[in-house]
Amino acid sequence: MSRGSEDLVSDLGSSTAVAEQLTKHFKSGPDTVRAVDGVSFRLPRGKMVALQGASGCGKSTLLNLIGALDKPDSGRLIVDGIDVAQLGGSGEVAYRRLKVGFVFQMFNLVPQLSAIENVMLPMELAGAGNSGTLQARAAALLGWVGLPPDRHNRRPSRLSGGEQQRVAIARALANDPPLILADEATANLDSKTGALIVQLLRSLRGEDRTILIATHDEAIAKEADFVIVMKDGHLFASEPKLEEQPTKPLPKLEEQPTKPLSEGPPRPDRAFWDSLRRGLDELGR
Ligand SMILES: Nc1ncnc2c1ncn2[C@@H]1O[C@H](COP(=O)(O)OP(=O)(O)OP(=O)(O)O)[C@@H](O)[C@H]1O
Ligand SMILES: [Mg+2]
Repeated sequence: MSRGSEDLVSDLGSSTAVAEQLTKHFKSGPDTVRAVDGVSFRLPRGKMVALQGASGCGKSTLLNLIGALDKPDSGRLIVDGIDVAQLGGSGEVAYRRLKVGFVFQMFNLVPQLSAIENVMLPMELAGAGNSGTLQARAAALLGWVGLPPDRHNRRPSRLSGGEQQRVAIARALANDPPLILADEATANLDSKTGALIVQLLRSLRGEDRTILIATHDEAIAKEADFVIVMKDGHLFASEPKLEEQPTKPLPKLEEQPTKPLSEGPPRPDRAFWDSLRRGLDELGR
């Protein structure tokens, strides 16, 4: 860890993530695409932050950097005390399993696995507990996101888009990460289902869980606590210019999840965390 990054770690304060001069350029023939062009920002802990901007402005590239799906060319990025740009090998894998949960536009579920098996997969990969414990936790998460029990053993191809996205959200929550990254999570859904999914994502934010949602959609951005606007690889209206929106009460959901959202998704029990500790050790903590 570079000396500068240590300063950033100790300066994380009430932020889940902090970035300084984060840069990712792509070569495209003779041209350079400045997808993320020296951005600096803080993600306030426990909030839903919308990353809004036109197609091609760099939103997915930025999310991929934050999720360690891609490496920055330069700059610094600290997420939940981890110096992400410095991670390599097993540390990077452990970071992706334990620190971030992804929700994608195309749901990206494993087609050969049932809904419940898709949710169990990240826990299995993290070596968390026996299959009975994992199955019970996966069922509880699917119940919380509002997937009826008769759908738990269905493969994704036999679920609606909204149901698939609920499964993807339960999967993102499997290892209880502090940061959920949602990339155009409603773009493949009708507007009513999309609104329900945004409310579900919004209800995930809490003391120790932050949501970053990339979107073109003004209506979705309005649901966020903060909005960061991206244009041509640059960020605007980020802190300290951001002003907090008043928190709105959750509208009544037409499809009621089996448990009230206000309770929050089920947290893992102690035995589960003991099993995950090995993964955390890989992150060098
Ligand atoms: N692997 C890559 N190689 C070359 N260029 C890339 C690559 N990934 C992204 N780009 C380019 O970087 C720019 C930003 O792309 P990015 O996918 O981050 O935009 P976006 O804001 O997510 O767009 P959208 O809203 O359409 O999803 C675009 O010009 C894109 O063509
Ligand atoms: Mg994108």
